[in-house]
Amino acid sequence: MSMLEQLNRYGGWPSNTPCPYDWDELIQEDRVHRLIYTDPQIFTAEMTHIFAGTWVYLAHESQIPNNNDYMTLRLGMRPIILTRDSDGELRALYNRCTHRGTTLCRFEKGSAKSFQCPYHGWTFRNNGKLSGVPWPDGYAGDFSDPKFNLAQVSRVASYRGFIFGTLNADAPSLVDWLGPIATPIDEWIDRHPGGKFRVCEANRLMYKGNWKLAYDNSADGYHVVFSHRSLLETENRLMAPNEKGMSYYKTKPDEQPMYVAYMGNGHHFKDKRPNLPKRVGGLWALESAHPGKEHYEEKFRAKYGARADEFLDLAGSEPVNINVFPNLSLLGNHIQVIEPLSVNETNTTWYGTAVVDDDNVLDGAVDDINALRMRTQEGFPNFGEVDDLSNFEEIQHGLEAIEDEWVYMHRGLGIPGRVKTHDNGVITAPATDEVFMREYIKEWKRLMKHPPNLHVRREP
Ligand code: FES
Ligand SMILES: [Fe+2]
Repeated sequence: MSMLEQLNRYGGWPSNTPCPYDWDELIQEDRVHRLIYTDPQIFTAEMTHIFAGTWVYLAHESQIPNNNDYMTLRLGMRPIILTRDSDGELRALYNRCTHRGTTLCRFEKGSAKSFQCPYHGWTFRNNGKLSGVPWPDGYAGDFSDPKFNLAQVSRVASYRGFIFGTLNADAPSLVDWLGPIATPIDEWIDRHPGGKFRVCEANRLMYKGNWKLAYDNSADGYHVVFSHRSLLETENRLMAPNEKGMSYYKTKPDEQPMYVAYMGNGHHFKDKRPNLPKRVGGLWALESAHPGKEHYEEKFRAKYGARADEFLDLAGSEPVNINVFPNLSLLGNHIQVIEPLSVNETNTTWYGTAVVDDDNVLDGAVDDINALRMRTQEGFPNFGEVDDLSNFEEIQHGLEAIEDEWVYMHRGLGIPGRVKTHDNGVITAPATDEVFMREYIKEWKRLMKHPPNLHVRREP
């Protein structure tokens, strides 16, 4: 067994030492052990078993729309250049020179047919092939061996513009792995004219806590009125009670039509759309106050007349949290990406999205829609997400109490009739239930127990 196979098999600890963890002890039906959030060895194992062993979201195609466009990101801890190469193929190249290992590209994004290493000048085409080295007569052999071409993520696939990658040869197809969560993703995409949108710039937030704290929280309907109280009060200050923003959490959220769902393979979904009034303009009517809103809305209505409500709904925030394990959330109109940095440091990046009107069906309103849409997208990352991040950091502090071992996620468990399993395997429950956490962490456990079949590829 090669050293790489040994490391992957045992998740980063020495191969002659048995895995020190009993995963069934750490992950129980009603609770999980603090170590899964605090142990650096478990984090190291996650970077192969989860952030290589299953499909991981990389970026949206609209971020690299043209041939030769690229952006840099991470797949777990691996530095990656995601590029649409000169022939239009999507590739996730390791951002790691095959000579001595330095990162090749230090820019966030750009357009390039090739990448020249800043250290000794080896140059690689954007399909990963080595195209030249300085003073080659100093080498006895030639460079035709593929081992000198850049490593690449072995499987890269796109679902309707959302690009994912995995190193696991045994992972199912992307579509099979998405399964039922593809339906709300389709609905999220298709609410845009022609099913088209583009990704804009982002709010970038880092917190000092484990990455799973963000994923645990992403469909949590239990925390809203407590954690986001100040935002909720702000949203409702100028309005009648229970009309705006997150107000449907104010009283008896479990008795309302919104629900939480576990969608299989670690994916989960908070669907607040059933709470909406079913009329054109209903989504916009829920939109909370923001500076200048009345003024802009008045001008918008005067300009677009009978179609104003339809257009304003495109600016309004879609009331869904669609969470694709392990690192992608569609929250309102945002695309949020969770990026682990270490066992107790995580980036969360909230990309805004904009409507595209290639087919000219919006009466020239697209820029005005996007201007309002951007205002609606400024709210939560600035005034809500900070509440969540501070909770995640405080959890990380709390979990340093070594002797107090357990974290509970049993809300809804054992109450007859509360949690429903449907024919397609989807599990639904009232909005504040923690069933989605209990189920996704079982998928995490399954992946941590079984070594993935990891492969990189190189151009021949
Ligand atoms: S490390 Fe890249 S050329 Fe030497
Ligand atoms: Fe929150």
